Amino acid sequence: MELMLLKRVPIFSGLNDRQIQHIAEYCVTKRYVKDQLILVEEEIGKTLFIIYKGRVKVTRTSEDGREVILSILESGDIFGEMSILDGKARSASVTAIENSEIILLRRGDFLHILEEYPQIAIALLKELAGRIRKSDTQITSLSLQDAMGKVASTLILLADEIGKHREGKIIISRIPLQQDLANMAGTSRETISRVFKAMESKGYIEREGRKLKILDLEGLKACGA
Ligand code: CMP
Repeated sequence: MELMLLKRVPIFSGLNDRQIQHIAEYCVTKRYVKDQLILVEEEIGKTLFIIYKGRVKVTRTSEDGREVILSILESGDIFGEMSILDGKARSASVTAIENSEIILLRRGDFLHILEEYPQIAIALLKELAGRIRKSDTQITSLSLQDAMGKVASTLILLADEIGKHREGKIIISRIPLQQDLANMAGTSRETISRVFKAMESKGYIEREGRKLKILDLEGLKACGA
């Protein structure tokens, strides 16, 4: 195991040469070709992986059988740490999306290293905090998309029921109160307000008191799709 290789791994960056040398004794490097499965969801985890070169995708299979990509990881990123730390099954599958060189550490060795060098544990926590931040952003935008879809469908329904076509726009002159819209859309009043703002900034709708103009019906339909 080349020392230079390990020094470039962010979670080992606080260590001196002697400490890196010690860790290197536990590591092996393995090559994976593009599209090769590295670890499989639900298996028991016995290894931690550190990407030296290349890129991988982290995926889960949805209930209807679609592959959902949770993340793309690249050089310096680690994976496989979750089941190593909590002893449960692998939370996702990981596949190489480029020819990759990956450093492998056995579970017991990694836990031993963490105990010996607590600064690695701190660096690992930082890495995991970053991952939660990214997931939080994803969840927020996903739930916004869901809400956009629900509100768009409600507006399209109202346009059909009570809208008047004028100069390529649809005018709903007395849009129901936000609480009523929320009940129709199966969401909250706050969400209606948030989604309306987002729709206005995208140029889909325009509001003036109780009057709502649909400027871009196709745009709304795309939200509800
Ligand atoms: P583990 O559960 O052992 O095996 C699958 C790995 O995928 C997991 O550890 C993490 O390293 C990684 N992983 C799971 N979910 C995410 C995510 N949302 N973002 C980035 N990596 C993830």
